[in-house]
Amino acid sequence: MTLTTKSFEIFCGTGGVGKTTLATARGIDLAASGKRVLLITIDPARRLKDLLGLSESQIGEVIPVEVIGVKLHALLMSPEKTILRMSQKYQTPDLATNRIVQILSKPYGGMNEILSLVEVQMQFETGAYDVVVLDTPPGAHFLDFLEGLSKIRSFFDQNFIEIFSYLGQKTARAGKRVFGLGIINRFISTGVRKLLGYLEAVTGGQFIDDFIQAVQIIYQSRDAFMKGLSLQERLKSRSECNWFLVTSVEQGKATEAINLRAHAGHFIHQDHYLVLNKCLASDLEAWAPTVPNLLAVKESLLGKEQDLKGQLRAVFPVVLEFPEVISLSPIEHLKHLTEKWKTYASHR
Ligand SMILES: Nc1ncnc2c1ncn2[C@@H]1O[C@H](COP(=O)(O)OP(=O)(O)O)[C@@H](O)[C@H]1O
Ligand SMILES: [Mg+2]
Repeated sequence: MTLTTKSFEIFCGTGGVGKTTLATARGIDLAASGKRVLLITIDPARRLKDLLGLSESQIGEVIPVEVIGVKLHALLMSPEKTILRMSQKYQTPDLATNRIVQILSKPYGGMNEILSLVEVQMQFETGAYDVVVLDTPPGAHFLDFLEGLSKIRSFFDQNFIEIFSYLGQKTARAGKRVFGLGIINRFISTGVRKLLGYLEAVTGGQFIDDFIQAVQIIYQSRDAFMKGLSLQERLKSRSECNWFLVTSVEQGKATEAINLRAHAGHFIHQDHYLVLNKCLASDLEAWAPTVPNLLAVKESLLGKEQDLKGQLRAVFPVVLEFPEVISLSPIEHLKHLTEKWKTYASHR
C-alpha cells in the first residue's frame, strides 16, 4: 500500500481516536520529505497548541513551527481572525466590526465550518503550500456541514441579488447604510416580519439595523464565501484530496467509523482511507507469556483485534494501521506515528 500525497488531506473521526496526533504526524512526515506543509486544526480542543508549543496570542495566526526537528507551518483556527483576514483581503472592513457577524463568528457561533473552508481556500491560494493538512472537530458535524453547503449557496441566489441591489440603491439615496423596518418589510415573510417587529420593539431598532447591515455585509463578502464553497468540489476530487477517517481499536469505535462513513458517503470520494489507530497486535505477538492464563489473555486480545480488522476491511477500501505507542509522552506518540506514516508514503 502506498499513499500518494494530495493538495488537501483531511482527518475526521470521533473524539479521542487520535485525529490531531495523526494529522500532525502526517504533516511532519510530509514536511520532512520536502513538502511545504500547512497544518490547520479546527478542533476547539486545542490539543495542537500544546503539541506545538504555541502561545494563546498565536491562535488564529499562521506560525512557523519546528516539531521533532522538522519545520512546517501551523494554524489553529480562530473564526474571529479569519473574519479579520477576509475583511482585509476583500476590502470589506464592516465585516470585522458588525455585531451580528461578531456573534456568528464566536467559537460555536454557527459559522465556524464555513469560515474554516474560507480559511483553507485563502491559505492555499497564496501558493505558499504544497499540502494543507486539516484536522477537523470530532464527529459528523463537519461532514453534516459539507452536506449542507447548498443551503448557504442558495443564500446568495438570484432573489437575493435583486433584493440587495434594491437595498443598495436605497442606501445610496438615503446616504446611510442601514434601514429600519419599512424597507425590509417588503421582502420578508409575515413570520419573520413579526419576529423582527418584536425585536425592534425590545431592542429599540438597533438590533434590526445591525441585522440588516450584517446581511448586506455578508452579501458583499460573497466572493470569499463562494470561493470557500468551491473548495467543496476539490475536496470531492480524488486527485486533489485524501480523506482519512480515523478510528481506534477501542470498544465501539469501529461501529462509529462505519456509521461515519455511511454518513459521509455522499460527498467524500471512494478512495478514502480508514486509519485504525492504537493497534496492539505487533506488541501482543512479540509477547510470550509463560503463565497459561496470560497466554489466554494474549490470544483473546489478538482475536478481538483480528475480528475488528476483518469487519473494517469488509467495509473500507483501504485500512491503514497505526500502533498503540507505549508511552505517556505526546511527543513520543508523534515520533512513532511519524515513522509509521513513512512506511505508507510514496513521497520518498
Ligand atoms: N497511537 C497512539 N498510541 C498512544 N497514544 C496515542 C496514539 N494516538 C494518539 N494517542 C494519544 O491519545 C490521546 C488523544 O489523541 P488526539 O490526537 O488528541 O485525539 P483526537 O484528536 O481524535 O481527539 C492523546 O493523548 C494522544 O497523545
Ligand atoms: Mg483533536
